[in-house]
Amino acid sequence: MSATSQAKPILPSDILARKGGVPLVTLTAYTTPMARLVDKHCDITLVGDSVGMVLHGLPTTLGVTLEMMIMHGKAVVRGTASALVVIDMPFGTYEKSPAQAFANAARIIAETGAAAVKLEGGVIMAETIAFLVARGVPVMAHIGLTPQAVNTLGGYKVQGRGADAARVLEDAHAVAKAGAFSVVLEKLPAELADQVTTALHIPTIGIGAGLACDGQVLVLDDMLGLFSDFHPKFVKRYGELGHAADQAIAHYATEVRARQFPTPEHSYAMAPATPAVKG
Ligand code: KIV
Repeated sequence: MSATSQAKPILPSDILARKGGVPLVTLTAYTTPMARLVDKHCDITLVGDSVGMVLHGLPTTLGVTLEMMIMHGKAVVRGTASALVVIDMPFGTYEKSPAQAFANAARIIAETGAAAVKLEGGVIMAETIAFLVARGVPVMAHIGLTPQAVNTLGGYKVQGRGADAARVLEDAHAVAKAGAFSVVLEKLPAELADQVTTALHIPTIGIGAGLACDGQVLVLDDMLGLFSDFHPKFVKRYGELGHAADQAIAHYATEVRARQFPTPEHSYAMAPATPAVKG
C-alpha cells in the first residue's frame, strides 16, 4: 500500500508492522516544498543530517547542529500530511549519555512535531536506544557505514566485508533488541544485508545495501541529479534536475543581458488592463 491512499499519518508502529511486506519507500527532504512532493509517494520522510552537505555546503555531516535539524524538521513537518517524519540526531547531541540523548531527542520531537528520531551506532548505542524508547521516543537506528564516524572509519567505505560481517550482525541484533522500530543499513554487501534482514524482526531500510532490505532510502537531491559531481555507485539518478536548472539559469542570464526579459507580459502598466468586452 502506498502512502498516498489516505492522509492518515503513518506511525512508527505502522512501519514496524510492514516487516517483510511491500517495501518501504523513503527519501530525504529538508524543505516544505520538497516534503510535499515526497509525502505524495513515500512512507517515510527522513530529515537527514546530510542536509549539512547538501544544502549548507559542509564537507561532512559533523558540523550539523541541533538547531539546523530542528529548523529543517519544522519545515518538513509543515509539508507532510501522511509520511512518517524521522529526524536525524546530529553528531555530539546523543553519544555522551542516554540522558543527553533524551534531552535533545525531546527537543526535536517537541519543537518540530515529528514522531521519531534516527541515530547512528549499533552495540555502542543500544543502551541509549532502550532509554529513549522507554521514555516515548521512537528510534530508527543506523548501522553499517555511519557517516558521523567517517574519521574513525577512514572514509565512506563499504562495511561488513569478510570478518567485519560479524560486527555488523551484532550491531543489528543489538539495536533491534533495544527497541528500534527500524534500522538503516548503509553501504553493506547485498548478501550481508539480506542476512541481517532475515535475522531481524524489525524492518531494514537499505542505502547501498541491495534489494533484500524491507525498504530503501536515497538522498532526494542525489536521485534527482541535482549535483553533477557526486555519483556513488548506490545512487540511481531518476532525474537530471541539476542540468535542467543550469540551462534555465543560463537562459535567464542571456535574456537579461540582451534586454529580452521582462517583456510586457511580465511587466505592469500605469493603468491596469481592462478585461475585453464580449459581443
Ligand atoms: O543523513 C541522511 O540523509 C541519511 C541517509 C543517507 C540514510 O542518514
